[in-house]
Amino acid sequence: MQIILSFLALVCLLPAIALSAPGQLFERIGAQPRADPGSGERAATFFTNWREGSGNFQCTSGQGGSYSARWSGQGGFVCGKGYNPGNWNRVFRYNGTYNATGPGYLTLYGWTRNPLIEYYIIDSYDILAPGEPWTLRGNFTFEEGSYDLYTSTRVNKPSIEGTRTFQQYWSVRTEKRVGGQITVGKHYDAWRALGLPFGYHDYQVLATEGFTNGNKVCSGTSNLTVD
Ligand SMILES: *[C@@H]1O[C@H](CO)[C@@H](O)[C@H](O)[C@H]1NC(C)=O
Ligand SMILES: *[C@@H]1O[C@H](CO)[C@@H](O)[C@H](O)[C@H]1NC(C)=O
Ligand SMILES: *[C@@H]1O[C@H](CO)[C@@H](O)[C@H](O)[C@H]1NC(C)=O
Ligand SMILES: *[C@@H]1O[C@H](CO)[C@@H](O)[C@H](O)[C@H]1NC(C)=O
Repeated sequence: MQIILSFLALVCLLPAIALSAPGQLFERIGAQPRADPGSGERAATFFTNWREGSGNFQCTSGQGGSYSARWSGQGGFVCGKGYNPGNWNRVFRYNGTYNATGPGYLTLYGWTRNPLIEYYIIDSYDILAPGEPWTLRGNFTFEEGSYDLYTSTRVNKPSIEGTRTFQQYWSVRTEKRVGGQITVGKHYDAWRALGLPFGYHDYQVLATEGFTNGNKVCSGTSNLTVD
């Protein structure tokens, strides 16, 4: 029944595509399990840049899907280039440089709302020093690599909806790399197989993140391009 209703909703929505803002249909369908038909129609030009603390965190949006970051000091930041809204059927291809010291990630990164979820598909890092304990939930391997899956809970922390308590999902590649292809839907399927819920897409980017954890301070540079 659920599937039929979703299908009917999709069919009924189709005539509205041309009239509605481009993001809206994707956002609605994005809440359904892998039902979203379109991906990659638009260039990866959405840029997000968030920071807190006293550190020197510089992120610069370049042409098309490129951006560069240079960071050091206390606090944290995350910036990246991609799409808004996200899409579970999207395949990210990227390359460039990432040279980091301390806590942080080179990661495919995004959010959903209702429920509010922050998700990461991590390709590289110097050290993993998460602020909250991670719970290992499983692992999976496919042609792009092997990944360990974790979840964690952030309590009263910054989010796209202000200060909130929310879940984080993590896929961490066991062989670090800088550059390649990230098939987002494979991770979505692995997370769904663990029973983890998702909501409506907000943004979805190839991000650089750095943060301080205790006496572990971050610094580094990155220069990345999403195709
Ligand atoms: C990154 O990929 C683009 C497009 O595929 C290519 O033109 C460029 O040379 C690549 N850069 C590096 C550093 O591999
Ligand atoms: C990476 O950064 C470290 C510390 O800033 C520096 O010593 C090293 O030369 C850098 N490596 C590359 C490949 O840029
Ligand atoms: C992956 O999960 C399987 C099944 O839970 C487990 O047997 C295996 O040891 C795990 N592999 C790694 C590398 O953690
Ligand atoms: C990033 O890399 C591109 C292509 O290699 C280069 O043209 C650009 O100057 C670099 N930007 C920075 C800030 O290093």
